[in-house]
Formats: sequence, C-alpha cells, structure tokens
Amino acid sequence: MVNTLGLAIGLGAALTFVVLHFAKGASNPAPEDIAADVLEQRAATVPETDFPEPYNRSIGGGGGAGAVAGGAEGELEDSEEEDEGFDPDDIADDEVEYYEIEFVNEGETIEVANNETLLDAGEDEGWDLPYACRQGQCVSCGGRVASGEDASEYIRHSNNESLGDSEIEEGYMLTCTAHPTAEFSLETNETP
Ligand code: FES
Repeated sequence: MVNTLGLAIGLGAALTFVVLHFAKGASNPAPEDIAADVLEQRAATVPETDFPEPYNRSIGGGGGAGAVAGGAEGELEDSEEEDEGFDPDDIADDEVEYYEIEFVNEGETIEVANNETLLDAGEDEGWDLPYACRQGQCVSCGGRVASGEDASEYIRHSNNESLGDSEIEEGYMLTCTAHPTAEFSLETNETP
C-alpha cells in the first residue's frame, strides 16, 4: 500500500516535470535570424557610389574603392604631365620634314622623316641594326652623333627611359625612338 502510494507520487512528479519542461520550451521560441536586418542597417549608412552592382552600397567597400580610384587617377594625370612631349603621330602630313642622315658604319646617306625613327629608316634599307625593346627602355639600339656633339641638337626621343642627360650631351641616342631634327652623321651600334 505504501509502495503503491510512493509509486503514484513518483509518477505524478515525473509527469509534472515533463509537462513543465515542454511548456517552458514552447513559451521561448528560437530567436529570429537578425543577420539580414543588421546588414541592411549597415548598408544604409554607406553612401551611394557610382560603382555598378555589386559594389554599389557594399559595406565598407564602396567608399574605400572610390578613394583608391581617385588617388590612382591623380597619379595618372601627374605621370601624363611628366611624359607629355613628343609624339611623332602628332606631326601632320604637311609638317613632315626630311633630313639627310649619314649612316657612317653602313656607308650610306639616306633621307629620314621626322616622324620616323632612325632605326626604322635604317631597317627599311635592309640593314641589320641592333635593337631589343624598341621602346626606349634599354640601350641595345644605341647610336651616337659621329662628331660627339650633343645629340639633342640633332634628334629628339619620343621615349627615353635609359639615357641620362650627360650621355645625350656626349652624343648618345636610342635609335629606336630617335627622330631627326637636323642633318648629321650617325654611328650605329654605339652605347655609353
Ligand atoms: S631597343 Fe631598347 S631602347 Fe632601343
């Protein structure tokens, strides 16, 4: 009798515990995922940019990218100013001038236009002249005013990233980017 009463009390307590357990769980639903709301709120604080999607309104990215782009643009403008100078393509057809250039080592004198390079003109004659980059970035095509006078009196470079002022004053030039501005005698295959 005592055992039956104890068993009944025990079962009642267990049942009560189970009911309370589920009742508590049901009254506390899992929190909603607020990640999307947070992202939207943060995105709203980022100013609009001119960048197309997906960068537009990107969190922390649009403004930074804009700043970098602005800086790069500024640097480009500076370098363009520095490089501003002689472009042979800017010479109009009716402004093209020709100069008699003596190629000493080749033993001939030819006419070279001021919108063509000494290297191109020599190659047109079939001469095997030295070169590598053809962009003024090495000295493989080096030549020299035979008299040793300042090369800037006779040519101008469309691009020179190799020779210093003193070397040019000694008569050296890069024939791949050198355009004649006067008649002179040229020694090819000459480097400082
Ligand atoms: S070939 Fe390189 S500077 Fe002329």
